[in-house]
Amino acid sequence: MQKKRTIIISNRLPVRIEKRANELHFIPSEGGLATGLGSYYKTGSNIWVGWPGYIPENESEVQLIRTELAKLNLIPVFLSAEDLEGYYEGFSNEILWPICHYRLSYAVFDKSYWLAYQKVNQHFCDIILAQNITSKDELWVHDYQLMLLPQLLRQQRSDLTIGYFQHIPFPADEIFRCIPWRNELLKGLLGADLIAFHTYHDAQHFLNSCLNILGLSPKNNSVRCRDRRVHVEVFPMGIDFDKFEELSRSNVVLNKVQVLKEQYQKRKLILSIDRLDYSKGILERLMAYESLLQQYPELRNKVVLYMLVVPSRDNVAQYKLLRDEIDRMVGHINAVYGSDDWTPITYFYNSLPIEDLSALYVAADICLVTSLRDGMNLVCKEYIASKAQDHNGVLILSEFAGAAKELPETIQVNPNAIEDIMQAIPLAIYMPKMERQQRMRANVAMVKKFNITHWVKLFFNRLHEVKTEQKTSA
Ligand code: UDP
Ligand code: G6P
Repeated sequence: MQKKRTIIISNRLPVRIEKRANELHFIPSEGGLATGLGSYYKTGSNIWVGWPGYIPENESEVQLIRTELAKLNLIPVFLSAEDLEGYYEGFSNEILWPICHYRLSYAVFDKSYWLAYQKVNQHFCDIILAQNITSKDELWVHDYQLMLLPQLLRQQRSDLTIGYFQHIPFPADEIFRCIPWRNELLKGLLGADLIAFHTYHDAQHFLNSCLNILGLSPKNNSVRCRDRRVHVEVFPMGIDFDKFEELSRSNVVLNKVQVLKEQYQKRKLILSIDRLDYSKGILERLMAYESLLQQYPELRNKVVLYMLVVPSRDNVAQYKLLRDEIDRMVGHINAVYGSDDWTPITYFYNSLPIEDLSALYVAADICLVTSLRDGMNLVCKEYIASKAQDHNGVLILSEFAGAAKELPETIQVNPNAIEDIMQAIPLAIYMPKMERQQRMRANVAMVKKFNITHWVKLFFNRLHEVKTEQKTSA
């Protein structure tokens, strides 16, 4: 008899494929969803279904990819260039992403995007149902690229247990209702048994949308959808704390830390790590850093902003524009304020292996997260976990990142207020050691306790309760 499995489903698999020198390379994906769940899915006979980030050139590549990914419990969903343009770049990242991050003016409501989104969600549904799914299995759909999937699955198999987690913010209903296909999207999600978000506000916004757009009145954080009660709840995502804590003590990382310390000598190292995205407030951060160098000339040559920007969605127009603007601003700041022996900003536009990320977290005196909106932001939790040894670091955190609610012992800033971000930097630099360590100790305790294992457990415990309630009230 087949054992009960968890089927994780997301647009992007935790492994992505790149072709270099005529060879396929399998590399870890970036982004909070893939990194966060990357450790969990390997347990038991779980599988993960999603796009491998590559369009195979022939049938033998298709077979090779299937075989290699199967060894990792991964099932690929292959998408054509046309699918990607309409569903991924178009509907997901030119409609849903800007709307959910409150950038209404960036949204492009193109009907062809909608058609592609429906088609690809159906394609995911077909591939999942081809995996011998039994009513014992639990399906866990992740994120905004697959909002129609819960209902598509439910239509074909009313017996299924389906959870949905949204990793990005859910906007106020007044914003969400601007989408021409808002009703279909909400109904798509309501195919799940449990719909979950990182923060209380996201869950409330979703319930308000059900009420004001679909006319469904919420009762005790749930809505009635035909014969089922669908629950809407909050589960702030954690990270693999042990992995980052162990890395921070490993020889390979400590050697890299030594190299960084020698390179930057006694200067204060301010770290920022994000995917290239307008939601991350990268330009605002650069403006604040320039103000700092203007208004605190005594800090020139005493600080370095180490900015790692990971390439992301580079076929989407707004991302290309942002990249050009970052290049321009970094060039400007380095040219105006730099000197023979000091470059104010070290800027890299690429992704790094986890050991290098860990070394940066350990070496950084300050981590600067200035998201204008962010579902959770795992980078700030990874920084904290990497400080579990000496508690020596300060986190400056946007109040608009989901993580802000859980981490009151950080310096919180409004990322739209350039002056606020700027002022937070000297506050962090001159914070007395005792206060710095006290605050970091509290942050570490939080990130350690509410880790990824805890998050997965809470989600599934609740999903089981919801299913039991549904059965007893049927
Ligand atoms: N990350 C990575 N490689 C890099 C830089 C970052 O894998 O070179 C990871 C980072 O460790 C974090 C994730 O990308 O786990 C970013 O997640 P976050 O929640 O901060 O933002 P998102 O990209 O999901 O919006
Ligand atoms: C965020 C989203 C994920 C997405 C990731 C990377 O974390 O919540 O769903 O996978 O960004 O973006 P990408 O478009 O490269 O998958």
